[in-house]
Amino acid sequence: MIIARSHQELREALHTQSGSVGFVPTMGALHIGHRSLIEAARKENDSVVVSIFVNPTQFLPGEDLSKYPRKEEADFKICELSGVDVLFYPDVQTMYGDDEVRICAPDVRGYILEGASRPGHFDGVLTVVMKLFNMVRPQRVYFGKKDAQQLALITQMVENFFMNIVIVPMETVREKDGLALSSRNVYLNPSERQEALKLSSALKRGTEMVMQGNLSTVEITDAMHKILAPLEVEYVAIVNRRFESISKVKIGDTIVLVAAQVGTTRLIDNVWM
Ligand code: PAJ
Repeated sequence: MIIARSHQELREALHTQSGSVGFVPTMGALHIGHRSLIEAARKENDSVVVSIFVNPTQFLPGEDLSKYPRKEEADFKICELSGVDVLFYPDVQTMYGDDEVRICAPDVRGYILEGASRPGHFDGVLTVVMKLFNMVRPQRVYFGKKDAQQLALITQMVENFFMNIVIVPMETVREKDGLALSSRNVYLNPSERQEALKLSSALKRGTEMVMQGNLSTVEITDAMHKILAPLEVEYVAIVNRRFESISKVKIGDTIVLVAAQVGTTRLIDNVWM
């Protein structure tokens, strides 16, 4: 595995690879969810590139940028053992200069749900992803459905800017008890870890209601709120794949999302139906 820290080192590393490039962008603190993306990239491409970069522009003032978990050594090992060919591990100066051109998230889809709770977050995500795409020049890029709105906006950016890249959506990997894997789960103490299960339980209840034939989004969100109480819920939302609000679930075109604060940790989860 080649570790590239600068744009020049990345260019040289990519030069040694041939055939299709599969790319997995991450912020590190890698877990089995990240690994499932890397494994899919390994199966479907000649070369696999992973980036690890805790992108400052997608954190709002007061968010967890400075305490975001950093696990360089373990992450390098995981990448090596997963068959990654090139690990791109840049610092902030490599990725950003002064007074730069930026990508803006769309006015509506970029400022609802996650974008309402974290205004400007998606500008930072789209900007760094655009930079990474242009540096790595992959054929396929792997993203988790866990960050559903991020996935939708990146897919839209690729379409809107006519970029010749295939976005591959990947299922959310969960612990046995249902908790969606997240780098932020390390912030949870044992009792918060238990409370955090309310997110996946609420989504499970929503799925059951749909399976029993109840397609009313008002009734489903009400039932989910009851399960989530007394957590501090930021939103429970049911949208179509374009992130538009809907009044009835349409199988094959619906995402149910939840965001809640567990202690001081903000968690998100969703199901696609
Ligand atoms: P990060 O949170 O490290 O996530 C990297 C990728 O792993 C994302 O596509 C995310 O959706 C996916 N992922 C996270 N948890 C997962 C799980 N439990 N199952 C499956 N996939 C999971 O998302 C980011 O980084 C950043 O915003 C980034 C796109 C790298 C831009 O900075």
